[in-house]
Amino acid sequence: MNQADLIVGLQWGDEGKGKIVDMMAQSYEVVARFAGGHNAGHTIVTGGKKYALHLIPSGILNPEAVNIIGNGVVVCPENLMKEMSQFENLQGRLWLSDKAHLILPYHQSIDRARERMRGAKAIGTTGRGIGPAYADKIARLGHRVGELKDVEKLFEKIMVYLEQNAPIFSAMGVEVPDARTLKADLIRYRDALLPYMADTTQMLWRDVAEGKKVLLEGAQGTMLDIDHGTYPYVTSSSTVAGGACTGTGLSPRQIGKVTGIAKAYCTRVGNGPFPSEDFGEEGERLRQQGHEFGTTTGRPRRCGWFDAVAIRHACALNGCDQIALMKLDVLDGFKEIRICVGYRYEGEVIDYVPYDLEGVEPVYETFPGWQKVEGIADYDALPDSAKAYIETIERVSGVRVGIISTSPDREDTIIR
Ligand code: IMP
Repeated sequence: MNQADLIVGLQWGDEGKGKIVDMMAQSYEVVARFAGGHNAGHTIVTGGKKYALHLIPSGILNPEAVNIIGNGVVVCPENLMKEMSQFENLQGRLWLSDKAHLILPYHQSIDRARERMRGAKAIGTTGRGIGPAYADKIARLGHRVGELKDVEKLFEKIMVYLEQNAPIFSAMGVEVPDARTLKADLIRYRDALLPYMADTTQMLWRDVAEGKKVLLEGAQGTMLDIDHGTYPYVTSSSTVAGGACTGTGLSPRQIGKVTGIAKAYCTRVGNGPFPSEDFGEEGERLRQQGHEFGTTTGRPRRCGWFDAVAIRHACALNGCDQIALMKLDVLDGFKEIRICVGYRYEGEVIDYVPYDLEGVEPVYETFPGWQKVEGIADYDALPDSAKAYIETIERVSGVRVGIISTSPDREDTIIR
């Protein structure tokens, strides 16, 4: 049976999926996003030009590839239009599911208002309206991209929604658009997006059946998954492999090779538990060496050590066939490197992810560091201590590390 391959993040997002998807997208005919929205983001530099991608799949840089924004994605038309303006002639190369839900002008304001109300318990969202758009979808109050085909009807429905919610929004300090601006916006969205709308599920079924090479591109990471992550400090979508089925319409039998992306250390943006976080000098060094500042919001990322317990959990949830281990070179020059191999939880040491990671303490194994792996593209050329580190990750996760990245450049990648 023909199948689509899948890429997912195994940690708290920002694992470096961009480099791998960008590399792999060169040899795929179709690349599809299945979850999240413009909370995700990476920058790709090619041919001396810089592209900021948030919603559009990375396959857009392969002139031969067709790119799909699947039904599981939440789409902010304003942002998508801005992103599209970076490219010429997208017709036939980009398709947007008519079943994807819209992030409308008020969702962002609701997101920010809820964060303000949470105070010290704020999630630290990207403020892009992701949670409120998914909440409306699940509450059956959302609006789908396909509704833009009849702007008049959509406008009326939104006005009813705004009216019904007016007392709550006013108490929360949510800004809502005035009717005239809203209508003008909806017309602009329709004019810009109508040529790209399609039943992308049918397209994907056909492409997979015809044996085309299809790549499904995940966003965020497993530990941010709405069900399996560190709830409530998560994003609002299914970031795991299962989300690729609901978010595209492909069946579980149509999912082929699963590559899980993990950084050689760990980072997190936003709040919530992070057992292997390093608050000291070494955490700061990881941040500087790894340039760990958010691409979407510019926030400094929290940094710490590779968490093997979380990775084992993530590999099981996603059914990973291989791990791509990213940014190994960021550990260059560290005298010692740690891996979190267990959690101290309620008085005992456990090797699984419990109900709540709050208050869990890491149990580390320490490894000797190495001088330099930057730019090495051959496994045998790696220092022994780096090989020992990688082999420990394989042992504790039970999954082969098939790809190792030793610099941001495409060439500096070990394929084993
Ligand atoms: P939201 O997705 O904007 O609602 O944010 C919820 C949580 O997910 C916050 O902790 C964000 O920092 C985090 N998050 C969302 N998108 C990304 C991403 O692309 N990389 C890393 N963290 C993310």
